[in-house]
Amino acid sequence: MRLQDLRTPAALVDPRVVGRNTERLSRRIAGHGARLRPHVKTHKTVEAGRLQVLGNFGGITVSTLAEARAFAAAGFRDITWAVPIPPAKAAEAAALARELEALHLLVDSDEAAAALETQATAGSRLSVFLKLDCGYHRAGVDPESPDSVRLARRLADAPHLDFRGVLAHAGHSYACRDPEEVRAVARQEREVSVDFADRLRDAGVRVPEVSIGSTPTVTWAESLEGVTEVRPGNYAFFDALQAAIGSCRLEDAAFSVLASVIGCYPARGRLVLDAGALALSKDPGPTHVDPECGFGAIRTLRDEAVPLRLVSLSQEHGAVDGPGDVVARFPVGTRLRVIPNHSCLASALHERYLVVEAERVVGEWRPVRGW
Ligand SMILES: Cc1ncc(COP(=O)(O)O)c(C=O)c1O
Repeated sequence: MRLQDLRTPAALVDPRVVGRNTERLSRRIAGHGARLRPHVKTHKTVEAGRLQVLGNFGGITVSTLAEARAFAAAGFRDITWAVPIPPAKAAEAAALARELEALHLLVDSDEAAAALETQATAGSRLSVFLKLDCGYHRAGVDPESPDSVRLARRLADAPHLDFRGVLAHAGHSYACRDPEEVRAVARQEREVSVDFADRLRDAGVRVPEVSIGSTPTVTWAESLEGVTEVRPGNYAFFDALQAAIGSCRLEDAAFSVLASVIGCYPARGRLVLDAGALALSKDPGPTHVDPECGFGAIRTLRDEAVPLRLVSLSQEHGAVDGPGDVVARFPVGTRLRVIPNHSCLASALHERYLVVEAERVVGEWRPVRGW
């Protein structure tokens, strides 16, 4: 089927672009001598996950237990669940861990440590990372606090836990405006994590792993010395924000939303699309780089830039503004593609992605849903 004939809105993925993105980043990380444990949270599909692990050791990172279960069922054997574990899910996680070579879990509190200690037994050990705050201030222990060293020692001394090391994520790299700012955050992410790991080692705690990474920071990191693995994920799809801060070009966006023009008003300088917040998400995007960025980048089916701005989203409408003569080029019924501001959020709104090659649909991928 051709794009022109599809029901809209529809999520589109180009597997050749996913392959290009994943190959490029794998090569870059290998050049740094670190292992790549890609995050699958952006696409949540086994197909894209397989492209991400090609040429790497095979381990992945997930954001939900539902993803962990689905990827385990598809044959992935070494999985890190990179969200601090809710104590109430410790039993479920322990049961899944018994089916895998490794399920690594995150802890940044005594409550979560206690929950894992209760579940782990001599015959069924649990692998655990201490979640470290490297400057993002979302989650993780404070690297400056003596209490963080105490919690690491508790995990290392627990009889049936395997303490793997420290894990950090520089999510604040998304607030950067260009590669130079990203490089500074990448330095901070690495230095805070490696320094803290060294402090633990000085205190007699064995720290086999230092795991860090976000798409912007691993794209621009100048050094990964002391880091054992990195966990970027968004790079498989990329999006309008990553293009604005310099992680990629818009042409590298593998995911987009196909929409139909349902209103064309040249006199008002306005188009209306049938893709609203429930097709694109309402992520404001890179307003810190361009206050006029709108809710995504509009492209033709041939991937040409359309100089119009997606100014507002309601549930099922996308309002697009621009000069009347440009608006008039896209009459009602025209199909356009929108590269969303944040592909992780936009893709999760869709039950399936249509796989597109050379403007034709050649298959579909079904993302994992729920938690
Ligand atoms: C803990 C953790 N690690 C890694 C990543 C991957 O970062 P990115 O989405 O920038 O590739 C995320 C993303 O949210 C994360 O939360």
